[in-house]
Amino acid sequence: MSNEAAHEIAQTEQTEKGLGSPFNLNAPEAYRHWRENKLERYPTDPSALVVEISDLTEPSAPACAAIRALARKCNMAIYRTNTRDWPLERLRPALLRFAARLGLERIEAHRSREDDGLVALEVSQAAGKSGFIPYTNRPLNWHTDGYYNPPSATIRGFLLHCVRDAAEGGENGLYDPELAYIRLRDKDPAHIRALMHPEAMTIPESVEPDGGKRPASTGPVFSLASDGALQMRYTSRRRNIIWRDDPACRRAVAYLNGLLAGENEPLIFKYKLRPGEGILCNNVLHSRAGFVDRSDGGGRLYLRARYLDRIAGT
Ligand SMILES: [Fe+2]
Repeated sequence: MSNEAAHEIAQTEQTEKGLGSPFNLNAPEAYRHWRENKLERYPTDPSALVVEISDLTEPSAPACAAIRALARKCNMAIYRTNTRDWPLERLRPALLRFAARLGLERIEAHRSREDDGLVALEVSQAAGKSGFIPYTNRPLNWHTDGYYNPPSATIRGFLLHCVRDAAEGGENGLYDPELAYIRLRDKDPAHIRALMHPEAMTIPESVEPDGGKRPASTGPVFSLASDGALQMRYTSRRRNIIWRDDPACRRAVAYLNGLLAGENEPLIFKYKLRPGEGILCNNVLHSRAGFVDRSDGGGRLYLRARYLDRIAGT
């Protein structure tokens, strides 16, 4: 089958899935209505995303409801706990139970995860981590998690918890993929068409730190999950990524990169998590600034879990 024919079929499937869906390019009314709701009273400051959790082991029903409401609006929430003095063996299971309480249960089988499913993100020279940017103090470009995963293992949510912050820097950029969709579609629906193409973005095969091979991953940037939710698969890195050789795709990617650089987009959040705070989200676009660790050895430490689930009820 030709690529064009495959694209036709994929588009038709998306359309059928999305009768009445705001993400259907042939349903401008549904889009207009959803867009209006989405942008109405959208938070302009990340402080509006913060939910206090007075007891992480027993998060209250109102606190969980507040997180779900924020995730419905912005696909993310920041929680603040009183766990800064907790030992890791107490904190880790409590974080996982907390996430599960919000519907994040099926953890990705990541190579760096420990037995409980969490990955410790810190500057590390350990085998399998050394030299990989997440385990250095260098900036991390905008991306969604798991952009190189096969469709069977799409990352739909993650938890990112700050155990220790950096002496300087290390703040996260956070951007709701649904806003990116809106800006792109408003600028030119052809941008959406190009980014929904099933061959829009290819991550070539690579060798994992453990010597295993990760197969090439080809797929769209935007797609719809079987439940109708918008999914985004994206990295702004420039090396080892192949964009579909098509002027429409190049234009769309250039516009998206401009948005991520803050052009025409006031609703990108910048937030530095403090110890005890974390992000729960539906795999939003995120970045990390470079940082300087404290000299006393207590370097920046984040715990992360990636899920095949979205936050329940969002
Ligand atoms: Fe990430």
